[in-house]
Amino acid sequence: MSSKVQERDLIVSKIRDGIVIDHIPAGRALIVLRVLKLRGGEGRIALVMNADSRRLGRKDIVKIEGKELSEGELNLLSLIAPTATINIIRDYSVVKKFQVKLPETVKGVVKCRNPKCITNQPREDVVPTFKVLHLDQPILQCQYCGTYLTIDDINAQLAGER
Ligand code: CTP
Ligand code: ZN
Repeated sequence: MSSKVQERDLIVSKIRDGIVIDHIPAGRALIVLRVLKLRGGEGRIALVMNADSRRLGRKDIVKIEGKELSEGELNLLSLIAPTATINIIRDYSVVKKFQVKLPETVKGVVKCRNPKCITNQPREDVVPTFKVLHLDQPILQCQYCGTYLTIDDINAQLAGER
């Protein structure tokens, strides 16, 4: 497989162990870093923006050494980068490749933006849970109060986190 990768196409080198998130819609790489809470203090990270893609025209790629993805991270990734392919790399080889898949619900990774929502009441122990709706873009609907969360809302929320 990798033999068809031409040297001239390699903007950043191959990685040894970690993950490559490929086929990210162009312009979304920075949101992907936010979702994965990568702020530069970790291992080696490579970011390719606006690479040529036969499938998407332009795409972003994020390579992260020594990282594994949790279920929650994969769920968020599927919302902001529904076209993404996850490649698990071990000793320079792609040992696993899969498409992200939109879940039916998202639980406990983002907060409802309605301050009156029961999930935002400190006395209540209710985990924020959202139904995934497929409109133009996937959006989330709070299971408790019906409030919608768009990709932009998710991005803003992740940007505000420390
Ligand atoms: N990759 C990497 N380091 C490795 C192996 C692969 O950074 N040791 C990257 C490649 O540069 C590519 C992605 O992981 O961006 C997937 O690799 P591969 O499956 O070899 O490429 P393709 O066949 O082009 O992938 P696809 O068919 O999913 O487009
Ligand atoms: Zn709510």
